[in-house]
Amino acid sequence: MRDVKITLIFLVCMLTAVSIAAKDRFLIGFSQCGLHEDWRMNMEAEMERELMFHDDLSIIIKQAGDDSYLQIKQIKEFVNSKIDLLIVSPNEIQPVQEAIEDVYKKGIPVILIDRRVDSEFYTAYVGGDNYGIGKVAASYIANRLNNKGEIVEILGALSISPALERTSGFNETLKNYPELKNISQITTNWAENAVADNLPKVLTQHPNVNAIYAFNDELAKEASNVVNSWSKDNNILIIGIDGLPNVGGGIELVEKEIISASLIYPTGGKEAIQIAAKILHNQVFQKNNLLPTTLIDPSNVDITRIQFQNINALQEDITKSKNMLELLNGRYRDQQILLFVTLVLLALVAILLVMYLRSFKRLKISNKNLGKQKEEISAQNTELKRLSDELEKITQERLRFYTNISHEFRTPLTLISGPIDKLSKIKKLSAEQKELLHIAQKNITILLKLIEQIIDFRKYELGKYDFSPVSANLIKHFIDWNELFAEVAKRKQIDFKMEAFQEDDFVLDFDVEKMERIYTNLLSNAFKFTPKGGAIKVKLSKEIIDRRECVKVNVLNSGKPIQESKIKEIFDRFYQAGSKTGGSGIGLALVKGYIDLHHGKIEVTNQNGFVYFTFSIPIKQEESIEKEEEGKDPEMVAIGREDKIKDIITGINENEDSFAFDDEFDAEKTSILLIDDHPGIRSYLKSLLKDKYAVFEACDGIEGIRKAVRYIPDLIISDVMMPGIDGVEMCRHLKKEISTSHIPIILLTANVQDEKCILGFESGADDYISKPVNNEILEVRIRKLIEGRKQLKALYGTSSSSGKNKAEINCIEESFIDKFEDLIEKQIQDTELSVDFISKEMGLSRIQLYRKVKALTNYSPIEYLTIYRLKKAVHLMTITEIPLSQIAYQVGFSAPSYFSKVFRKYYDKSPSEYLKDISK
Ligand code: FRU
Repeated sequence: MRDVKITLIFLVCMLTAVSIAAKDRFLIGFSQCGLHEDWRMNMEAEMERELMFHDDLSIIIKQAGDDSYLQIKQIKEFVNSKIDLLIVSPNEIQPVQEAIEDVYKKGIPVILIDRRVDSEFYTAYVGGDNYGIGKVAASYIANRLNNKGEIVEILGALSISPALERTSGFNETLKNYPELKNISQITTNWAENAVADNLPKVLTQHPNVNAIYAFNDELAKEASNVVNSWSKDNNILIIGIDGLPNVGGGIELVEKEIISASLIYPTGGKEAIQIAAKILHNQVFQKNNLLPTTLIDPSNVDITRIQFQNINALQEDITKSKNMLELLNGRYRDQQILLFVTLVLLALVAILLVMYLRSFKRLKISNKNLGKQKEEISAQNTELKRLSDELEKITQERLRFYTNISHEFRTPLTLISGPIDKLSKIKKLSAEQKELLHIAQKNITILLKLIEQIIDFRKYELGKYDFSPVSANLIKHFIDWNELFAEVAKRKQIDFKMEAFQEDDFVLDFDVEKMERIYTNLLSNAFKFTPKGGAIKVKLSKEIIDRRECVKVNVLNSGKPIQESKIKEIFDRFYQAGSKTGGSGIGLALVKGYIDLHHGKIEVTNQNGFVYFTFSIPIKQEESIEKEEEGKDPEMVAIGREDKIKDIITGINENEDSFAFDDEFDAEKTSILLIDDHPGIRSYLKSLLKDKYAVFEACDGIEGIRKAVRYIPDLIISDVMMPGIDGVEMCRHLKKEISTSHIPIILLTANVQDEKCILGFESGADDYISKPVNNEILEVRIRKLIEGRKQLKALYGTSSSSGKNKAEINCIEESFIDKFEDLIEKQIQDTELSVDFISKEMGLSRIQLYRKVKALTNYSPIEYLTIYRLKKAVHLMTITEIPLSQIAYQVGFSAPSYFSKVFRKYYDKSPSEYLKDISK
């Protein structure tokens, strides 16, 4: 704003300076009575020349054409045009005089030129001395005629002052010459034909006329014409007035002796401008200015001509100079304008520069401040980041510490729990002792639950950064995971259903592991809160949410409605809606966390007597790795580890020599392999089992596999959490391997609902027992599993053909088994024949096939396949002479030695021994 003000002030100053520099100009109005006569044109030319020297004066000329009334009108127009001065050559004294007086009375200076008016109301007069002209003419004639003779006077219009003065001066002078007589006066009113009309008459009347005095050269020339036509030989003197140097003017007439002499009548144009300048500049001037005359006759006409030529040349030079001056003036003016514009522009540039510098300075300052602020913010950010990193590090360290401690706590707790359990079984205990033991047991349980919480939380914290969605069929996974809840549904008589539509409609991107946590957590939650005889439903649909195609899943249960006030907090970490049933308390928080990772949403509502957990996730995840997950075995992911395990298995299988029992192995007893990385747990379990079973130990998964393949124990008990290969993975490998697939495996888990335990199931684990291990449960489960194996063994052993007791199997199951056996039969030579292939052919998932076969035969499909191969071998051995080695290949064993090993496991004798027995 301030800068704008400065600019305006500057511009005003500049304009003021320019206007002061410009001079005041005066306007002169010139009222010319005649039109284009030479004499009057000379007058105007003189004025123009003089004006060259007065650059503050300018002139407007109006010609009246010898019309007095037109002249009066033009004079009034001049007044209206606001002239500063009037120059007027009055056409006649009257009626122009009044108009002139009016102008004068208005305060406008009036200069009369050439002709006077009969009034004193004018500022100045300039013109030739007409009285003097008359005098000179009379004297000249007297001189030439020796004071004696007759004269004719040809008058101009007597309504104008020059004519009156000229005749007066002439006749007054003639009075000095008594013998000179003015014999006739011809009035012409300046019209030449008046001479031609009247002069011949006068000459006829006065044949001795000696001289003619005409009031201008035009009239004199006409008189000469008349005289010459009247008499060729005459000596009549003809005198004219004006003496113009122009073509046909008085000087030329004298030169050509057409007239005798001419009296120069100065126009006064130059003088009029000079007087006007003086008046306008308030300088002293003379009111009446009479200009003297000169007589030109043959005696001085040459010199006069030369003088006029010189004057003309000078005037031309002056005109040239004037033109040059005007040109230079024009240039000067242009340069002045240019200079002015340049100065203005320069000033503007200077102002802009100042403004720019000021704003640049301001900008620099504010930039500096900004920079400072930025630095401060950046320093604060760095500090914040450092603090947050530190905090995160501390948190992670704490978590790690707590998790480690928790793991450490769990083992001694398990070790405390077992003995307490055992102690509480002693019958002799007093009521108080029993109560004390009960309290101890209860608190161990609480401690274990707390430990679970810490471990779960840690797992979530670590897992949330590892989001690997794949394109997969959600319903197929849901069906598999539903299996996990079939038992509890049955036990609690809960109507558990899934409303699935077109399976293919639910192929979407999701992280299988995390989705399993989401789904099983929601189902666990539902089962936990649904009373006996209630209902749990899973519904799937597709919806467009926030312009993205999503899959919506409703998990609803008929449990108690959740209080509206608690609904918002239900997904908060460590929150449990009024539950006293234990659990980690972060299950739903984990669900929410994993759904967030899928860019989904979850909410809980009470509707129509059901509690609805509704979550939706977009069909497409940006992070999705475009691979088809369906049909792929998740165990195949860890290929490196897989290869190592294969090496162990094939190494042992192919090297028959290395197959030997360790000292610790008591072949007479039922054998149990204990796998746990904690020696305390192993020794504790061993102490429980060693009396009844041959127990041998392995300290991790790899050693466990090695010993399992080597010893083919009757049962395996393994911890889930182990370094390297954990219990689940180990179990999966053993169940895949034909030689070990039949071995019942019990996994010791942290929690029945634990994901690892579920995976353990999928991997083929036969049972799982949660820690702390209950002695009785463990003993019962072991016994049951081993008995089950023995019964089946007996059952299949007595069967004649494929080994099944058809009487014990109903029709539907029979057709299932038939189909299953049919498939095996067709592919029996294929050593690679897999459960995956069979399950696909049967139209069931792997887990479904597993459960079905297990339910019907108490064997896993792999075991059943192995048994079928053995039975087939026995059959061939019985009815054919084919060598044993060939039979081994024919029934799908990869090597005869391996066939022998497996055969012995089932029939307690080698194939050749068996053959011998048959032939007996
Ligand atoms: C021109 C003229 C001149 C004469 C003068 C008198 O208009 O007739 O010849 O001298 O006027 O005013």
